[in-house]
Amino acid sequence: MIAIIGSGRVGVSTAIHCALKELDDITLIDVVEGLPQGEALDLLHMCGILGIDIDIRGSNDYKDIAGADIVVLTAGFIRKADMTRMDLLFKNSEIVKQVSEKIKEYAPNSKLIVVTNPLDVMTYIAYKTTGFGKQRVMGFSGPLDTGRFKTLVKRELKVSYKDMDVPIIGEHGETMVLLPRHTYICGKPLTELLPSEKISQLVEETRKMGAQVIKLKGWSASHAPGAGVAVMVESILRDQKRVIPTSVYLTGEYGVSDVCLVVPAVLGREGVEKVIELPLNDEEKQAFMKSFETVRNAISQLKL
Ligand code: 2OP
Repeated sequence: MIAIIGSGRVGVSTAIHCALKELDDITLIDVVEGLPQGEALDLLHMCGILGIDIDIRGSNDYKDIAGADIVVLTAGFIRKADMTRMDLLFKNSEIVKQVSEKIKEYAPNSKLIVVTNPLDVMTYIAYKTTGFGKQRVMGFSGPLDTGRFKTLVKRELKVSYKDMDVPIIGEHGETMVLLPRHTYICGKPLTELLPSEKISQLVEETRKMGAQVIKLKGWSASHAPGAGVAVMVESILRDQKRVIPTSVYLTGEYGVSDVCLVVPAVLGREGVEKVIELPLNDEEKQAFMKSFETVRNAISQLKL
């Protein structure tokens, strides 16, 4: 069973995408009475129409996540257009801590995917609170940021998303690090396909894309995050071992420790089965260290 904590737009979008892939039964949880039950009923009817043979339930009680193989944590405040993700630090850290305690109590054998922002710090809190270990706690954002970058690359090069290999590392935030040198399109690095000024422009656009979505539609992205989380859930449940940029608790990889940051990771039955270390040049290393310092600084402001 997949348990989704938080039945707002991201939680529901995650449920839709997991259902469309027919991954497993789904339990939606929320503190608002009626909301998870109503969304679950609506989604169940969607399954009836589409012939998707899974069960979907809603509940206000954490006991109902018992037996979950994967828990997706989406609970928390979302940012407004004039906020950075880091502005949610204090508001969301308490929520993530409390919910992580519940997950530890009721679904002690699950794998946990954190979606709440600021993502890497919230993943760190969940890692520390649950004590599940670095294989079973991970943060979602990589598929979203690389997906956004891919749309811009496609706009320039007019090639299929399917033939793009786009890694990303660092913070899901202002200091995210796209790696054009390691971005391949049908065997060619992006740096040989586009001029460097154009690449810098696309990287900057990608960084601002989350805020752009909020500015335009009035609230935070949900369709793309839901689709991205489902890709991670699928890789774990079906043991696909896909390499997905994931926020992981690092213990020396990329030269840093005691922090969660996005790195390419193999996701399979055991959760984070391997971290892949890309060879970074000085500029890329510096950019990654900026992410490290940003997230470490945020962690040091919290009482954990
Ligand atoms: C985003 O980038 C909300 O962090 C999320 O859209």
